[in-house]
Amino acid sequence: MRDEQGISRKHFGRMVVIGAIASALGIALGLLIEWFPTQGSDVAAPIDTFWDILVIVSVPIFVLVMTIVLYSVWRFRMRPGEELSDGPPIHGNTRLEVIWTAIPAIILVGLCSYAYVVLRDIETADAGEQMKVRVVGEQFTWTFYYEGQDGKEVVSNQLYLPKGQDTRFAVQSKDVLHDFWVPAFRQKIDAVPGITTSFRLTPIKEGVFPVLCAELCGLGHSVMRQSAHVVPRAEFDKWLADKQAGGQAGGSGAGSTADTEPKDGKALFNEVEPKCASCHTLSDAGSDATIGPNLDESLKGKDAAYIEKSIKDPEAEIADGFQGGIMPPNYGQTLKPEEIKALTDYLVEVATK
Ligand code: CUA
Repeated sequence: MRDEQGISRKHFGRMVVIGAIASALGIALGLLIEWFPTQGSDVAAPIDTFWDILVIVSVPIFVLVMTIVLYSVWRFRMRPGEELSDGPPIHGNTRLEVIWTAIPAIILVGLCSYAYVVLRDIETADAGEQMKVRVVGEQFTWTFYYEGQDGKEVVSNQLYLPKGQDTRFAVQSKDVLHDFWVPAFRQKIDAVPGITTSFRLTPIKEGVFPVLCAELCGLGHSVMRQSAHVVPRAEFDKWLADKQAGGQAGGSGAGSTADTEPKDGKALFNEVEPKCASCHTLSDAGSDATIGPNLDESLKGKDAAYIEKSIKDPEAEIADGFQGGIMPPNYGQTLKPEEIKALTDYLVEVATK
C-alpha cells in the first residue's frame, strides 16, 4: 500500500510539472495571438481585457485535462500479457467529487460576475449626447436609418458614424433572426423579429470596417456584408445633409467622402452594398459568384426595363433554377435613381447581347 501511494505521488508530481509548463506556454500563446481586429470603439478595450482573462483561466483547465488524459494513455497503457487484467475497482471518492464540483462552480460564478460588470459598465458609460441609428436586418441586407432634420428619417445601405459620437443602435429584423456585428467595434446583438434590441458604443477610430451578419439566416447569409465608415464629425454632418437633400440617396461611395460625381455602372456593380458582384457572375466586371443567376447568360436578349425592374423588385421574376427571397429587396430605396440607371445601362451594354 505504501509503495502504491509513493508511485501515485510520483505520477501526480510529474503531471503537475508537465501541466504547469504546458499551461504557461498555452497562456503565452493565447495572449500573443491577435484574436481581434483593430479596437474601433470605446468598448473594445474592456472586452479584449475580458477575453484575455478568459484565456488565462481556461487554458490551464484545458491543459490539465489533456495532460491527465495523455499521460494516462501513455503511462498506464496496456502492455503485452495484460490483456485480461483489470484495474482496481473504484466506488466513488466523495472528497474528489466535492472538489471537482466546487472549483468549476466558483470559477464560473466568478467569470459570470466579471462579464456582467463589464457589460453593465459598457452599457451605462456616459459619453455625452447620444445619436440613434436604427438598424434593420432582412434577407440579405442591412439598412440604416438616421434621424435627419425635421424628424425625417434618412435611409442608407452603408453605416456612417462620426468619430467620438456616443451612438445607440436599435436593431430590428423584418423576417428571420440576424445578428448585427461590426467586429472592430466588438459589440454584437441579435436582430429578432418583433422586438428591438440595442447596444451603445462610441467609435474611436476613423476608417472603413466590415459590417457582418453573425447569425445563419439563409442562403445569402455569407454575403450579408456591408461597410461601416467612421469619419470626422463635419464630414458626417455633410454626408447626412447630402443624403437628406438627395431624397432616397444611396451610399455607393467607396471612399469616406460623400460622392458627388456620378459613378459608372461597372464601378457600381462592384461597390453598391450588398455588392452585386458578391452574388452574380459577370465577366465584364470580373466577378464569378454563383449565389444568384449568371448575368452573362440570364440577361441575354433582355432590355433595360427588365433589368431595372429586376434591381428594384427582384421577386417580380425569378430566374430558372433559383429561388426567390435571396436578393435584397431594397436597392430601389437605397440607390439613387441615377445609380440604378447607370447600373441598368451598364448591364444592357455588357450582358444583353
Ligand atoms: Cu442575416 Cu445571416
